[in-house]
This record gives sequence, C-alpha cells and structure tokens, in this order.
Amino acid sequence: MMIDPISGFSKLTKEEKIDWLSSTYLKDSQNAPQILKQYWNPDSSLQQLHEEFTENTLSNYYLPFGIAPNFMINGFRYAIPMAIEESSVIAAASKAAKFWGKRGGFKAEVLGTQKIGQVHFIYSGEKEKLVNFFRKVKPELLEAVEPLVRNMKKRGGGVTGIELRDKNEALGGYFQLHCTFETKDSMGANFINSCLERFAESFKTAAEKHEAFSATEKDIEIVMSILSNYVPDCLVRAEVSCPVEDLADHGLTGEAFAGKFVRALKIAETEPFRAVTHNKGIMNGIDAVVLATGNDFRAVEAGIHAYAAKDGKYTSLTHADVRNGQFRFWMEIPLALGTVGGLTGLHPLSKIALEILQKPSAEDLMKIVAVAGLAQNFAAVKSLITTGIQQGHMKMHLMNILNQLQATPEEKEAMVEHFKKHNVSHSAVEEALENLRS
Ligand code: MEV
Repeated sequence: MMIDPISGFSKLTKEEKIDWLSSTYLKDSQNAPQILKQYWNPDSSLQQLHEEFTENTLSNYYLPFGIAPNFMINGFRYAIPMAIEESSVIAAASKAAKFWGKRGGFKAEVLGTQKIGQVHFIYSGEKEKLVNFFRKVKPELLEAVEPLVRNMKKRGGGVTGIELRDKNEALGGYFQLHCTFETKDSMGANFINSCLERFAESFKTAAEKHEAFSATEKDIEIVMSILSNYVPDCLVRAEVSCPVEDLADHGLTGEAFAGKFVRALKIAETEPFRAVTHNKGIMNGIDAVVLATGNDFRAVEAGIHAYAAKDGKYTSLTHADVRNGQFRFWMEIPLALGTVGGLTGLHPLSKIALEILQKPSAEDLMKIVAVAGLAQNFAAVKSLITTGIQQGHMKMHLMNILNQLQATPEEKEAMVEHFKKHNVSHSAVEEALENLRS
C-alpha cells in the first residue's frame, strides 16, 4: 500500500502524531501508543524540556545511567557516570578501575585544545592576487567577528588563526579559509560555525569590492562554512604503568600476561579487521561518558576514527610495551568536549553527571573520558587473552535473556544462582528455565 505524504506533521500535538502513526504504520500493533506514552514523564515541565530538545518528539528513549566507581586519575578518585545499554561495559570499567587503582591509578594529560573550522570556497583567477587579497582582508575578518568573540575572549578563548589554503590540486578552484579556535569549556560548535559564516560573508563582500580583482575573480563562490569534527590538535593522553610482575593474573605470570597483552595490541595495530573491534571496545567506555555528560558522541566517534586512520591505515588507538621490566599501556585521542553550553546544563542527568565528576573543566573531562576508554580496552583485552570475552559478557547478559523469556522474579533468582556454576548461553538459559518450570 502506498502511503500518502503528510504535511504539517510537526505542527500536530504529540497525541495527534501518535494517532497518525498508529493508523498509518502501526495498524497491527494494539499497544504501540500505550508503550510510547508509558515513557512520558509525569512531570510535565520535565517532559516538555525533553520534547524541546528536538523536533517531532513522541516519547523518551531510556538508557541505563550507571556509575563506575574507584577511578584513580592523577591522584583523584572519581566515580564515572556512564549511559550505556551494553550489559558488560560498566562492570568491565569498574573492574579495570579497581585493578589499576591498586597499581598507581591512571595518568592523563591534555596535549592540545585547538578546534578547527573551514570556509570552503571556489576562486577562479590568479593565485597571487588571492594571496594578497587575503593578507589585506584578514584583519577585517577578525574585526567582523568581534561581537561574536567578545564573551569567549573574556573566558580566555577566541579565534587563534586564519590561514588561506590552496586545495586547487584536489579540485579545480578550491581554496579554504582554515581557521583555528580556542573554545575553553564549551565544545564550541555554535560559536565556531557562527564565526565561520561571518568570515565567509565578509570575505565575499570584500572580494566584490577588491579593485585588483577582475570581474571573475571578484565572484568568489562560498561553498560552505562549517567546523571540522576532526581535531587532531585537541588531544588527550591517558596512560597506566606498573612493574611487569604486578600483572600476574589467571594463573599467568606477570611476564606472560604482559607478553600476551602486548602481542594482542600489536595485532590490533597491524590488522584493520581487529583494530575496528578493538577500538569499538574503547568507544564503549568513551561514548558512555560522553553521552552521560550531554556531549556529542557522533562528533567524538567521527573524530576519533579519523585519527585512528591518520597515517593512511586504520589502526589501534591504544599501544602497549614493556621496557626495563615496566609495563606501559597508553592512548592518545582527539576529543572535543564541553562542560558548559549545549545539553550539558540543560539535561538534568547531564548536570548530575558533571556534578558527580566534581564540575570538571573541558580539559578535566577530556582526561576522564580518555581514561574510561583506556580502562574499557584494558578490561576487554584482558578478558580476550585469558578467559575469553563470553564468560563475563554472557554473565552480564543473563538478565536480558531472562527478561526476553519473561522470567518471574523468583525464576530470575533461581537462574542467577544456577548460572553461578554454569556457562551462560541463550540455549542453556532456555533449557534451565524449562527444567525449572516443569
Ligand atoms: C564488545 O562490545 C567490545 C569488544 O569486542 C572489544 C574488543 O574485542 O576488544 C569486547
């Protein structure tokens, strides 16, 4: 059946939108409207706040909001908030935190905080004339964004550079204004994009009046003005280290454990199929904290994966070695985060998350997020080279399987007890539950 387009959908009330969906796409589902409404918050102002984050909101989509305690980072003990649905992530982070808490904790350091944005434009003419024009117009561009930059300057930020870049070889007539920014505790997306659009406008207007340009040269075409989510100079490093003998685990000597661990990382460094999964494990920790603190996880994901391929081949973000009897495990990643602005102060849970983290600066949050990623990776690789991943994973997944099989609270209790001594798999749970029920 062909479905007719609907106009004015965004103007309908929430109820009307649900009615339309029910009669159009959910005809066979008796209780879809009820399920959607079940997640409405009874506090109407809180509900409205969520609805106003975006367009066409029908309901709220819950994710568990949990805590991984005992993270010692640069000598301070944090409890890290995480928003994530994957069963084993918080347990793994907590385990890694405990493990490294006994071995000196995590060290983290911000290596740079530079953000980037670009005005992409087409210029057809003599390059030297464009270079001279840019030299002349640059102070005017900075002047044009002065009203936008004033508050940011008070906080110690602002525009830190504008460069003319020639990309003509890649695409005929393509040039850029490559701009750098310091945005202090805000992620800065709106600030950067507003500055870029103002640069573009002033640049084009000034070109139209530039006497040395011919008529064609005056006609600069602005293609787009947008920040880059690739921020290789907004960089943070997280590290752990300890004497090799302190790594003894699962019947392995410290030396054997370190050897296996370093080799697993070498595999992720050399083999892209493994690197992607290895880095996905890192992102389990990173995304969970980024989301809990109201930051943009898509931006973070895009930037970090680009960084993982910066040398032309996708590789591991973490590295490990053993030198003079000392095991080291570290990671450097780009992270553009904010602790003011955006959703951070708007979403009540992001606010709480930041309070739990002792109201960190953006730099502090970069360190915490990087540590969460490193810890997650340590936990995953440790399991992979010892017990295998499924043991812990399936144990944490048991409740999901029991819920799928609609186990009662009493059945759940009995099953949790039973699976303390048995391996969890979907079929094993099904069978054990059947036995219990019969
Ligand atoms: C699962 O979400 C993440 C892992 O696959 C990561 C890894 O393999 O390193 C366990």
